[in-house]
Parts: sequence; C-alpha cells; structure tokens
Amino acid sequence: MCGIVGVVGNVDTKNILINGLCRLEYRGYDSAGIFLAEDNQLYKAVGPLKKLQEEVPADAAGTLGIGHTRWATHGKATLENTHPHTSQSGRFVLVHNGVIENYRQLKETLLADDIFYGQTDSEVAVHLVEYFVNQGFTVPAAFLQTLNKIEGSYAFGLIDTQTPDTLYAAKNKSPLLVGLGGDFSLIASDALAVLDQTKNFLEIKDGEMVILQKDSVEIFDLAGQPVARQPFVTQLDANDLDKGAYPYYMIKEIAEQPSVVRKIIQQYLIEENYVAPALKEVIHEADHLYFVACGTSWHASRVGAKYFEEMAHIPATALLASEAGYRMPLLSARPVFIFLSQSGETADSRQVLVRVKELGYPTITLTNVLGSTLARESDFALPLLAGPEIAVASTKAYTAQVTVLACLAQQFARQNEKFDLAHELSLVATAMDTVITEQETLNLLVADYLTEQRNAFYIGRYLDYEVSLEAALKLKEISYVQAEGFAAGELKHGTIALIEEGTPVFAVITDPVTASHTRGNMEEVKSRGARLFSLVSESLANDDDTFVLPNVHPLLTPILSIVPAQLIAYYATLQRGLDVDKPRNLAKSVTVE
Ligand code: G6P
Repeated sequence: MCGIVGVVGNVDTKNILINGLCRLEYRGYDSAGIFLAEDNQLYKAVGPLKKLQEEVPADAAGTLGIGHTRWATHGKATLENTHPHTSQSGRFVLVHNGVIENYRQLKETLLADDIFYGQTDSEVAVHLVEYFVNQGFTVPAAFLQTLNKIEGSYAFGLIDTQTPDTLYAAKNKSPLLVGLGGDFSLIASDALAVLDQTKNFLEIKDGEMVILQKDSVEIFDLAGQPVARQPFVTQLDANDLDKGAYPYYMIKEIAEQPSVVRKIIQQYLIEENYVAPALKEVIHEADHLYFVACGTSWHASRVGAKYFEEMAHIPATALLASEAGYRMPLLSARPVFIFLSQSGETADSRQVLVRVKELGYPTITLTNVLGSTLARESDFALPLLAGPEIAVASTKAYTAQVTVLACLAQQFARQNEKFDLAHELSLVATAMDTVITEQETLNLLVADYLTEQRNAFYIGRYLDYEVSLEAALKLKEISYVQAEGFAAGELKHGTIALIEEGTPVFAVITDPVTASHTRGNMEEVKSRGARLFSLVSESLANDDDTFVLPNVHPLLTPILSIVPAQLIAYYATLQRGLDVDKPRNLAKSVTVE
C-alpha cells in the first residue's frame, strides 16, 4: 500500500526519492509523485513509476525532497489526488499514508474557506498546518497542533518551502522509519526503500513528531516534549532485494522456500533460539488459542490451529481479523491471541491487537518483519525468517508461517506423541526441492487448463482443504481466474451446479484418511464435465494422477503441496500474459482497515 520516502542533505535527492519509490512498488500503488524543494517543483503521474520518471527532468536536483506512491482509498487515482499535496498558499508540501477519519469535519469547520483540489483525506493535513501557522504558531508548533486535531492513522512527510534545510515527519499507526546517513537524513515507510543509502535507522513510535536536518534528528511527543531514542542497525541485506537470475520475484521466492524451511529447523529446533520460557508459560496457561490474520496469513493460521489441536491438544480457532475487529467471539476463560502477518503492518490485524490489549489478554505475533508495528506492540514476537518477500502474492511467508507453527505446536505435545520434527521437516525441504525442479513439467501440464477459463476449483479434505483455500487464492490474485477452494465433500451440497464441460478442478490428496472420499468427489465432478488435475502424495497415487508429490509426514503436507499450486498459479499467469509480481488492485501491505 502507499509508500513514503523523504530526504534532506548533501545527496542526490531526486534519485534517492525515485529509486526508493521503485523499491516500494511491490507494495501496490496506482499513482506517484515527488517534490523537490530547491526547484519548488511538484512532479506527479498516474500509473507506473516510469511515467513519473519521464516527468522529472534529468537535471532536477536539490537537497530536500519527499516522494509518495498512492494506493487509492479516498478518491480515484487522478493527478489531483496524487501526493504530494500543497497547502492553500503553496508554502507547505506533504505526503501521507493512513486514513484521517475526521477529515470531513475538519474541512467543514477550521478549513471551511479553503479550496481543495482533490478528494483525499490527506490534503486536509497540509491545509491545517498552514491554518495554524496563519494563527501565529511556529511551523513545528503548527504541525503538532495539526497532529493533535487529526483522528486516525498517519505517516507524514512535510516540507516548509521557506526552510529548505529541514524535513518534518510524524507517525501514528502507519509505518515510518528515520534513516541516518552522516550528512543526510531520510524518512521511509519501509527500510527496504533506502537500504542502499544506509543501514542505520531510528524507530519512530506512534504519536511522535520528528524534525530532520542533514546531520540531526529530533523526536518529540505530541505535547512537544523531546524524546531520546538510540539508533539501530538493520539486519536486512540490500542483496535480498535483487531478483538475481530470476525473471520475477515470485518464482525467486518460491525457489527460496526449501532454504527458508531449513533455516527455521536450524533456528527454532536445533539452536532453540526463539521460544522463550516466558512465552511457553503463556501458552501453557491458555485454554484456547485464537489466531488472528488476513489473506494468506489467515490460511496459514487455519493450518496452525489444526496443529495445536492435533499435536498439543489445545483448542484453537483462526479468526479473520477484519471480522474479529468488530465482533469478537465469546472468548474462553484464559485465551491467548496469536497474530500472523508477513508484513506486521496489516491494519485489520492491528485493530484486533489493540482491542485484545485493552481486554488484557496475552499476545504473540509471528511476522517476517521483527521491527513492524504488530511485532512491537505484542507481548512476544517470533520471526518467520523468510527474508524480504517482494512479490504481492505471498509464497515463502506462507510456508514459513506453517513451518514455524509446526515447531511451536510440537513444543506443547505430550512426550509420547512427539516425533522427530527436525528430521521430518528436512524431508519436506528436500521434497520441495524436488517439486521445484519439476516446475517445467507443471508449466506444460497446466498449459491448456487455465488460459481461457474464467473459473476453477481446488478441492480437498482436512489439511488438503486448507491448502485448497490458499491454492485458490494464489490463482485468483495473479491470474484473475475466479477460483474457489472448497471442502471436497461440501461441493455436492450446492456448488457442484457450477461445474460444466471443461471446468478445471484441482484435487489435493495427501491425507490417507480422506483420500478415497476425495476420489469419490473427483468422480462426481468428472461425470459432470470437469477437467481434473490431481496433486497426490506418492503413497496414495494412481497411474492416472496428474502430479505426484513425494511422501512426507501427514501433518506437514501443507508445506509441500502448496508449492505445485504456487507454480500452477505462476505459470497460468504467465500463460495469460499477465505480470505475476504486480497484480491489479492489490497491495502487499494493507495499512487501511
Ligand atoms: C494483503 C496481501 C496478501 C496478504 C494479506 C495479509 O491482502 O495482498 O497477500 O496475505 O495482505 O498480509 P500480512 O502482511 O498481514 O500477512
């Protein structure tokens, strides 16, 4: 979702802004803009960043600037709604991520005489700064007044064109970091955007304002009191952001999955690095675990809930964050909440976290970004160790989440029910390698299944059903085939009416207990014209199955069987001539509710 980069100092401002925004492209956007203070020039473009690059003259330069990629929420993707926005007189220029909830009210009261060019909530903020300056406040004081008037979430970058050596910023519930470069200072909504410039960062907390100059950074709370903060060095590596020899991030990330599983085995099971005694104690005390997540992370949570019930005999439920935020189910006496989020920034999940903390229940976050909002605000945070995931369609984060959840659940298994998880997971990693080397086979197998079709189904039972949900989401997200993941046995209770001649039905069969039943369901759809594609474990496979998976431990099959489904989505998308890494309408990190 929206991205921010800002810089002040003796550097190549224009290129830092443009390159930073390019690195944030993966988060999803539909327009972009930059402001360079010396030129006093605003450049904006709707559509891909290369359009913005064409707008900006090659010799544009300066020592102060801000840039933004916008994913439309309030108002369409037009130039008027594209950030940066300017104040009434043009003196102040601002970029914003988040949602200003009371923007209408502010427009109708304090700013009733102002003229607005677009429909965004963000434009209100920069008008307010000028409003308070006109009331006699200094710029920092006017910015603080503005922050105190605004209700909602924000990460702001603000420029006063009369002080071209100073950049202002503020944060509340939307991600923002300060980068320190020696003779320049930066702001960015994601460290990835500026990793080529610095590895030294300062965390900014909710309700803080920052004043940056090339060699100084001052942080204040909303009352204007200075706040002391130590910088940290990020562990992220700029090389992780490269596609390397791969044509797309998605295929690179699919290929990285075996090594991610091996890293988790090493860190979680062999070195036992992450699951602290206090965290174990919290889960021991729980009478019910509530997982909270969205999208792919919710699918991983559903598998995790089954792991805790099967392996540890702890009741567990996977809640959709966007639902639980408004209506919490009737909770057990001693609930513990486990949040799953690749980005750690998803607003729907955070909303639930805030509520759960108010209720006083323990919280744990599993995330790929340890410095993220959810990680910082939970009682405990566990890393996924998947490395940066850039493709919008999540792949390695899903398998990492399921793997970490298996490691966690097994810690609470009865002694006589424990199995050698490290060994079994290493077999999964090897089996993933095997599937990935067969990617060309999958490319050919799927060639005429999905090029023309508008609809498809994934079916399975128990854990295979959970994988079907995620497999169908992958297909939907990037190939735009309307795919449904369905419990195989439930299809006949209505949805089978949609099966017609040539409808692709992908069946996942790895569970010996339910295999024959799913086979029965395959026959039902076949006799109604479905075109079957089966993904089956070797020990359960027949001669006419389409793709055979190496055998792995029955509880761990979701980590493996999702891999051919990811590849099917990937190749089907390429066959349809679409961009796998940047699907339409989607954002990688969804920071609005
Ligand atoms: C967005 C992404 C999905 C992702 C979901 C949850 O909708 O497009 O791929 O699964 O957010 O994201 P999270 O970072 O919380 O796992």
